Amino acid sequence: MSELAAAFPKGFLWGASTAAHQNEGNNTLSDFWALEHLKGSSFSEVSGDTVDFYHRWKEDIDLLKSLGFNAFRFSIEWARIEPSRGEFSAASLAHYRRIIQYCLTQGIEPVITLHHFSSPLWFAKTGGWGSAEAADRFGDYVTAVAPILDGVTWVATINEPNIFAVMHQMSLVLQAPDPEAVIAQMGSTQDVVSGEAGINAFSMPEPKEEAAQTMLRAHARAREILHATTSAKVGWTVAVQSLVARPGCEEELPRYQRVWEDSYLESARDDDWVGVQAYTSQLVGPNGLEGAPEGAEVTQTGWAYRPDALGIALRRAWEVTGGTPMIVTENGIATNDDKRRIDYTTGALQGVSETIADGLDLRGYLHWTFIDNFEWVHAYQMTFGLVAVDRTTFERTPKPSAIWLGEVARTAGLSAGLIK
Ligand code: BGC
Repeated sequence: MSELAAAFPKGFLWGASTAAHQNEGNNTLSDFWALEHLKGSSFSEVSGDTVDFYHRWKEDIDLLKSLGFNAFRFSIEWARIEPSRGEFSAASLAHYRRIIQYCLTQGIEPVITLHHFSSPLWFAKTGGWGSAEAADRFGDYVTAVAPILDGVTWVATINEPNIFAVMHQMSLVLQAPDPEAVIAQMGSTQDVVSGEAGINAFSMPEPKEEAAQTMLRAHARAREILHATTSAKVGWTVAVQSLVARPGCEEELPRYQRVWEDSYLESARDDDWVGVQAYTSQLVGPNGLEGAPEGAEVTQTGWAYRPDALGIALRRAWEVTGGTPMIVTENGIATNDDKRRIDYTTGALQGVSETIADGLDLRGYLHWTFIDNFEWVHAYQMTFGLVAVDRTTFERTPKPSAIWLGEVARTAGLSAGLIK
């Protein structure tokens, strides 16, 4: 029993993560909706209804609770709160307040993200994240949302600012008078960014320092507003890449860590907590970041199967932040083989329990994702969910992994044999 208590402390958050654009459906006033609908876009499908979380949130929270979880991460959609610049929707604010309130009354800890990749179309068209005013515009939205966060402990300002610093460039095409002509000329919306890569490909170009600075400013502004007006603990969720040097390339490693994650983690030294998100581990070789090694098992996304990535990421985040409390806000695997999802998550949780045993301050594990959802450019081809969904009837069916992980949550690791 003492080992159990040490491994997963009382109040440890066990749950799943989602994001508004990927789950709600019909996010019609957002930049991603516009991008998906451009002729020649590289999205394999439009998001459409997704899994209709906008109407089925209660059913999903009930299901999550019945499985044994005590926490749920979801995001608030800026485009719904501020559909036109300076016009705030009281109805949308009330909608999200109902979800928060329901979580609180059900004993489900809400972990709220204020920005998860998608932005309002008006914002994207008027300069978006490349504009000098981006941080202030984001601040106006955060100010409008703050009152509905009453009773919420965990708030993340921006999801994966280190990935988003590159990804936001996709929306630049929306500023052109004729975006489709630009796409026709360049090949696809991705070409605006990189010439080829998909959003989650590890061949993305490096984030520019300017974009990193915008993210840092927007985060600092949001933190200031939230600290002044709410009692929430404020942080952001960083994609920690679990980079490992190939033997002989140890000197190359710090440069990549610097560009991809350090400034975002260093900024979290001033935060109340930091979200750690990890899926795979990547080698840094003589020519830079490498893809999955030849012959390695890969997941649907083409990422190497590396359950140990999470432990590596947690230790790295802990070291760079100098000990900011952490929550795993995303970890999971895109696969059709649900048995492999259980194997992967068992391995990842082993890493989690070892970091706790070593004294790292870890407050929770939120699996990505609750329900198979809209996986950005790959749309519905990638299945990260613990729960399957029929996209015509929207009926949810928990996979064996959902039942297994719920049981792990209920028994704080005992049922998975994570605690000896
Ligand atoms: C993002 C999610 C995405 C997941 C899997 C993370 O980068 O926050 O939105 O679905 O990875 O690709």
